[in-house]
Amino acid sequence: MSALRPLVDGITLLLGRLKQYQRIALTRISKPVKINIGCGLTIVPGWVNIDGSLNTLFATWPRFLHKLCYSFSGSRRYYSRKEYCRLLRKNTFVHHDLSYGLPFADGVVDFAYSSHFVEHLFRKDAVRLFREIYRVLKPGGVVRISVPDLEYAIALYQSGDKEKMLSSYFFVEDDNSYYARHKFMYDFEMLAKALRSEGFQDVRRCHFQEGCVPNLAILDNQPDESLFVEAIKTKD
Ligand SMILES: C[S@@+](CC[C@H](N)C(=O)[O-])C[C@H]1O[C@@H](n2cnc3c(N)ncnc32)[C@H](O)[C@@H]1O
Repeated sequence: MSALRPLVDGITLLLGRLKQYQRIALTRISKPVKINIGCGLTIVPGWVNIDGSLNTLFATWPRFLHKLCYSFSGSRRYYSRKEYCRLLRKNTFVHHDLSYGLPFADGVVDFAYSSHFVEHLFRKDAVRLFREIYRVLKPGGVVRISVPDLEYAIALYQSGDKEKMLSSYFFVEDDNSYYARHKFMYDFEMLAKALRSEGFQDVRRCHFQEGCVPNLAILDNQPDESLFVEAIKTKD
C-alpha cells in the first residue's frame, strides 16, 4: 500500500477539488438530521457520516465491490471483512474533503458532531468549517466538537512523556492516511473563542458522553485526553 501512497494522495486531493461545490440533499434522511463530520468508522446508523477517507469513498461504490475494497483499506487492522462490509452497507456516507466546508444547504441540520477531526485541519480551514456548521444548522441546532485537549498534551510533556506527546498530538504519522497529520491544536478557551466568533452561543465544556447530542455512548471516545464542547445556534 505504501508504494501506492503518492497515487492515492493525488487522487484524494483531486477528488476534494472536484467535489468542493457539490450540494447533497438531505430530504430523504430521517429526522432529526444528524451529521458526523470527519467520522472515520466511528459511526451510528441514522447519521449522515462525512469523511474524505478511502473507506468513505468505497462506501459510496456498489455493494458488490466492498469485499474487494476491504483488501485496500487501512481498517483491515481493526475489522473483519464481514464487519467492514456491514458497516459500509448499513450506514449513510458522504465522501468529501472537509477543508472545503460542508456540502449541504443552509439550515437543514439539527445536530452536528465531530470527534478528533478539527485538529486535522489548518486553522483557517477549521474557522471555515465552524462557519459552515453554523450555516447548515437550523436555528436551535447543536454542535458538539471533541478534540485532543492541548492542556492535556502540555501536561504530558511537562511530566516528561515528551516522545508520546509529540508523536500522538503534534506530529502524528500514519502511512495509511494522507489525512492523519494534525495541523492545529486547541484548549477550551481557544475552541470556545473560535465557535463564538462564528456566532455560536451557550458554548460549554461537557463531560465524556454527556450532553444534548444523541448517541454519545458510541460517538464519544478517548475520554482522558479529549476536550468535549457543545454550542448552540440560537433562534434568530
Ligand atoms: C482521528 S480520525 C477520527 C475518526 C472519528 N471521528 C473518531 O473519533 O474515531 C480523523 C478523521 O478525519 C478524516 N479527515 C482528516 N482530514 C480530512 C479532510 N480534510 N476532509 C475529510 N476528512 C478528513 C480522516 O480521514 C479520519 O477519518
